Amino acid sequence: MKYMVLPFGCQMNRSDTGRIRTILNSMGFEESEFEDDPDLAIKGIIACSIRQKAVDRVYGKIRNWNASKGKILTFLSGCFLPADGEKFEELFDLVFPIDMVSSLPEMIRAKTGDMSNAVLSDKPSGKSASGDLMTKERLENFWELRPVYSSKAEAFIPIQNGCNKFCTFCAVPYTRGREVSRLSTGILDELRSLIGKNYRSITLLGQNVNSYGLDKGDLELNFVELMKSIGKIGRETGKNFWTYFTSPHPRDMSGELLEVIAEYDVLAKQIHLPLQSGDDEVLYRMNRNYSLADYRRMVYAIRHTLPEATLFTDIIVGFCGETETQFERTLEAMKEFRFDMAYIAKYSPRPGATSERWRDDIRREVKERRFTEASEVLRETASRKNRKLLAKKQRVLLCGEDERKDYSFGYTEGRIPVRLSLNTDTAKSPGKDIGNRTKVGEFAMVQIISTGSLSVEGRVL
Ligand code: 5AD
Ligand code: SF4
Repeated sequence: MKYMVLPFGCQMNRSDTGRIRTILNSMGFEESEFEDDPDLAIKGIIACSIRQKAVDRVYGKIRNWNASKGKILTFLSGCFLPADGEKFEELFDLVFPIDMVSSLPEMIRAKTGDMSNAVLSDKPSGKSASGDLMTKERLENFWELRPVYSSKAEAFIPIQNGCNKFCTFCAVPYTRGREVSRLSTGILDELRSLIGKNYRSITLLGQNVNSYGLDKGDLELNFVELMKSIGKIGRETGKNFWTYFTSPHPRDMSGELLEVIAEYDVLAKQIHLPLQSGDDEVLYRMNRNYSLADYRRMVYAIRHTLPEATLFTDIIVGFCGETETQFERTLEAMKEFRFDMAYIAKYSPRPGATSERWRDDIRREVKERRFTEASEVLRETASRKNRKLLAKKQRVLLCGEDERKDYSFGYTEGRIPVRLSLNTDTAKSPGKDIGNRTKVGEFAMVQIISTGSLSVEGRVL
């Protein structure tokens, strides 16, 4: 009997899915990637609530599944608001917060009528638990499950759940709750095990990673100490890998963290620092707690301490009341900071978030136009920066097949995507083996032969 799980949204959901796989595999189910696989007994969705579009996708999918469901059991977990959870309970067989995944075997057995192996737990009834909030204890158990990773090249380690920042546009503090940090011993064990298996790219995940440990006071490492410990593990083991983290909050970024990143080779020179808006009044209404000048100081510090680091960001266009002048300040800031990558989003009100109570007064066409203009600025700054890579040699991590036929893809330490042509001198079997010299999950020295706005093309040397 088989199962499939569809993670929507961010890397955190993908990482959580690895732990769900562990549980379902331990029950004897086998994973399938095909929705119409006749052996499917369980189908699940790990939901995202960051935008309405993501929530609508869940409704679309489950209605579709229910139309031809047969005996398949459906479940939903991930990020959803309590109000959506109630509605989802009518459509899915099981709805539960992600940290209850270790009770999934009992919930499934109870639901399917096979209670023979049921172990009593705090939720043995097989009923959905969409109203349950995550708890610290259950989260800690959840994190200690060894996940089934989906890539041979990159792995994601959750270090924290939830957020205390309450940006006015954001639903995360309501879907994932308050910040809870994972024990550093568990994080470092998972890291050691991954580098033992030769994983080359490891990303520490959390909604607000640089507040890591603060909820535990002196009893736990803080984020700088955690990064330093990883740097030391890199030195002691002599392993080659890149450690990333996402996302930090600009307010909690410290010069000390940048110095630690500069000191250790295994801490990747790439920083993702969400700006959201280039206008102080908008930043104030977003409750971001920094001004453009504060952000600028941090960018100067990054460029000073980590001159080779790439800089990524998140931008929201069309936030409530954003005037044309305020939007232009965002464009100016994007030009000034010359981002290598920006995840640009059109504002959409999220139920539960403070801004839901404010008028979503920027018309769709205006949001659309601002999105296009911001994307153009990104393309200009990023292509100018990528052009500097032309003819240079870069270490590239090979990740798999590219969407374009006969191409593989990988990325540089700065996470610039690199397409590699699989021509005769570089490759024989697409994706897996590049010229029988370099395999997925390994580093290759690559010469950059052409550059675009959001990616470059290279040749394996
Ligand atoms: N509308 C648009 N974008 C949003 N984000 C978060 N909430 C919203 C929203 N309501 C974006 C922010 C955040 C990223 C993860 O998603 O830019 O940094
Ligand atoms: Fe949401 Fe702000 Fe927390 Fe990020 S820092 S998860 S945007 S509330």
